[in-house]
Amino acid sequence: MCGIVGYIGDRNCADVLLDSLASLEYRGYDSAGVAIYDNDDGAVKCVKTKGRLSALKEKLKSVGTPSGTCGIGHTRWATHGKPSDKNAHPHSGKNVTIVHNGIIENYSSLKNELKQKGYDFSSDTDTEVAAKLIDYFYKGDPIAAIKNAVSKIRGSYAFGILFHDIPDRIYAIRKDSPLIAAKGCGENFIASDIPAILKYTRDYYLIDENEIAIISRDDLRIVDFDGNEVNKPLQKATWTVSAAQKDGYPHFMLKEIFEQPKAVKDTVSTRITENGINFEGIKDGEFKDIERIHIVACGTAMHAGMVGKYIIESMARIPVEVDIASEFRYRNPILGKKDYLIIISQSGETADSLAALRLGKKMGVKTLAVVNVVGSSIAREADHVIYTWAGPEIAVASTKAYSVQLAVMYMLAGRIAFENGKIDDKSYAELRAQILTLPDYISKMLKTQETCKKLADKYSNAQNIFFIGRGLDYAVSMEGSLKLKEISYIHSEAYAAGELKHGTISLIVDGMPVVAVAAQEELFEKTLSNIKEVKARGADVLLLCREGEEGIDAADEIIQVPRIPGIFMPSLTVIPLQLFAYYMAVKRGCDVDKPRNLAKSVTVE
Ligand code: F6R
Repeated sequence: MCGIVGYIGDRNCADVLLDSLASLEYRGYDSAGVAIYDNDDGAVKCVKTKGRLSALKEKLKSVGTPSGTCGIGHTRWATHGKPSDKNAHPHSGKNVTIVHNGIIENYSSLKNELKQKGYDFSSDTDTEVAAKLIDYFYKGDPIAAIKNAVSKIRGSYAFGILFHDIPDRIYAIRKDSPLIAAKGCGENFIASDIPAILKYTRDYYLIDENEIAIISRDDLRIVDFDGNEVNKPLQKATWTVSAAQKDGYPHFMLKEIFEQPKAVKDTVSTRITENGINFEGIKDGEFKDIERIHIVACGTAMHAGMVGKYIIESMARIPVEVDIASEFRYRNPILGKKDYLIIISQSGETADSLAALRLGKKMGVKTLAVVNVVGSSIAREADHVIYTWAGPEIAVASTKAYSVQLAVMYMLAGRIAFENGKIDDKSYAELRAQILTLPDYISKMLKTQETCKKLADKYSNAQNIFFIGRGLDYAVSMEGSLKLKEISYIHSEAYAAGELKHGTISLIVDGMPVVAVAAQEELFEKTLSNIKEVKARGADVLLLCREGEEGIDAADEIIQVPRIPGIFMPSLTVIPLQLFAYYMAVKRGCDVDKPRNLAKSVTVE
């Protein structure tokens, strides 16, 4: 999604903005721009273009890079209006220039009102409307202008704002879209994401709603709408710069796939103790007497929730519903007083997941967030948070975040089962010991890299690929299928293996690849029958199953997985599925880390 940066200090502003925007490139974007107070004439110079940052650099070279030390920059992921020079940010009014993340829902009526007041518009964006709205209210008092403008806006926003007659300040405000104000030494920053500032400082403030950050070279203040100082704790980014770099890997995605043993270890090792599973700040007995659990999330995080459903239900015997957040929020869900709502989100900023959380809170249920980004909106607003310690996930396609979400699901299932008397001390201790062995097994699965590469050589020209499985294998098939389609652009569907015969099998034709996941002992024979059914109709089957299974010569290709208890199998089978998707995309020449049309953090509905 869009990225925002802002800088004021002694350095060349254009260099800092371009550098910081480069560290947000992973979010996905289609145009970019900067606005900088030019030292030569004191005016705000705006340079923007469709395309990547390299195109912006070229344009800056050709029109002349502004020489100032204060400015704002943006990478845009198109929502209102196609990617083009005119729709790229920043956008300006007479005295105001802004960059914006989010969506202004009532932009059309605001635009009409502003047109009647004499404003002209040169872009199709909602952002230009916001720029002109702030401009309209600006009579020399920035706080009043911002306050009045946002009171008219419906939707989500993070704004970085320059008032043309105040060349030594940047203003920033947000609602439902992340934004931080970062503190350096003789320089200060705003940014939509932490990686943008890591090279310069680790100290930052989280800007909350109804607060305005005012940033000058030597001062960083946060005030409320009446101009009163807001005192808030300075946060420290724990991510390292190298965590946000490729470290010799050709792509972030491959690096992140290989980081999974460590990410899982970091997520489980400090929580699993001799006596139990300790989630910071969540007291013993918190999960006792729950009647129903709702897991709500989007995309890959929702797939982790599907795994969570199977294992919580099987261990704790408590019903679990899994919902896609964008459906949950609008379907008038039924939530009982003893229900528990779990939101899973890597970024902690996904608009629909955040809205689902707020809905749950409004309806009075307890809420728990499973989140990777510390201090993100979902983490802050939930009653409890369990952080997944994956470190920054840069590739758009989620890999290590999924693995750590699974790790939290195992721990959570164990703790819920134990607190509700469904497992005894001995089984609980065994479960904890087994969870601690997962990083080593995941490392073993990474050795399938070469096999997956070869399989990609064989299958990369496929136009359609089916994934099938039953139970937990079905849940992981959904993730394997999503991974493949999002980065390789091959059409792919995941089906519950037993459901094929009810319609979909008519699509199986000679040579059609079918990836069959059959790693659950009690379901293996059932899935094997389904494999035979598709084979009989010409499918080319790639089978993932436990070592030593019989009858697997029915498959064309086989990847074997160590025999560990069935509930943990998704943590293992997902690894070759990720590697397979990765090499398929590489083989097809796709932009693996930045697949078309996708953005890392989806902060709009
Ligand atoms: C797929 C992917 C997305 C995200 C989804 C939710 O690889 O990354 O499907 O899982 O957009 O994002 P978070 O977890 O940040 O809420």
